[in-house]
Amino acid sequence: MAEAQHVTIDRVWPDPAGDLGDDELVEALLASGDVLRVNFVSSVDGAATRDGLSGGLGDDADRRYFELLRRVAQVVVVGAGTVRAEGYGPLRVSDASAAWREERGLPPHPVFAIVSGSLDLDPASRIFAEAPVRPIVVTTPGRDIAAFAGVADVIECGTGSRIDADAAVAALRARGLTRILSEGGPTMFGALLAADLVDELCVTVSPTLEAGDARRIATGQLPDPRALELAHVLRSGSTLLLRYRRKRSTAAS
Ligand SMILES: NC(=O)c1ccc[n+]([C@@H]2O[C@H](COP(=O)([O-])OP(=O)(O)OC[C@H]3O[C@@H](n4cnc5c(N)ncnc54)[C@H](OP(=O)(O)O)[C@@H]3O)[C@@H](O)[C@H]2O)c1
Repeated sequence: MAEAQHVTIDRVWPDPAGDLGDDELVEALLASGDVLRVNFVSSVDGAATRDGLSGGLGDDADRRYFELLRRVAQVVVVGAGTVRAEGYGPLRVSDASAAWREERGLPPHPVFAIVSGSLDLDPASRIFAEAPVRPIVVTTPGRDIAAFAGVADVIECGTGSRIDADAAVAALRARGLTRILSEGGPTMFGALLAADLVDELCVTVSPTLEAGDARRIATGQLPDPRALELAHVLRSGSTLLLRYRRKRSTAAS
């Protein structure tokens, strides 16, 4: 994979610092430990897509950070809607990320886990055929999984066409995949939020206004809003790279 172009990223808060190196950016991510982290890019007015895709919203800073988020992940989870819309191929990190991982005893690439209630996925696609690490398919019980047996591990959980997010995440953790990155779309983010599984949210605020009827980063229903607290503010030109974490209960402290 081509190396991401170096683009300057500064830290605005906490501890302002200019032109952070990859190691410094990665260290801050690792300091969170075993978390389930969600990543999105959004326009200033809250659009998660342009012309149905996220790619048009991201710039070089977003792409650099996106790669570093993958660098530290043990598993990257994506909903089938995003796989179909974005035309995902096999998940491979950059050569620099693979080298960084191998130096720390990690497999060169994270595991790719694809979530599909309907199992509307092509087992002959490049995602599976060219995977550097055997992927995982997360689906509901009763689907015809035979075609995937040769190309992926299959986790079955949930009922009907609805995957039980709690059980799915527990199954990943039981395999030792405890640093989880979700690149899934609004449906998956909504399901993870509803199950209260999200520890951190990285959101790149792209300096554009999109208007129209593009989706937001999360959909679905929540019993109550989820409160967040700020972990850091990074900036590259007019692009903000924000990281939030689950708000800690003040009663516990
Ligand atoms: N701005 C960004 O950073 C960003 C990031 C990611 C995606 N996107 C955009 O989001 C759009 C796709 O949205 P999306 O909501 O369809 O994406 P998604 O959440 O990645 O995928 C939704 C699909 O995942 C499966 N799924 C997720 N949760 C499930 C559950 N609890 N139970 C059963 N199945 C579940 C289902 O697959 P089946 O239909 O196969 O059952 C569902 O249709 C695209 O336009 C993409 O470009 C934007």
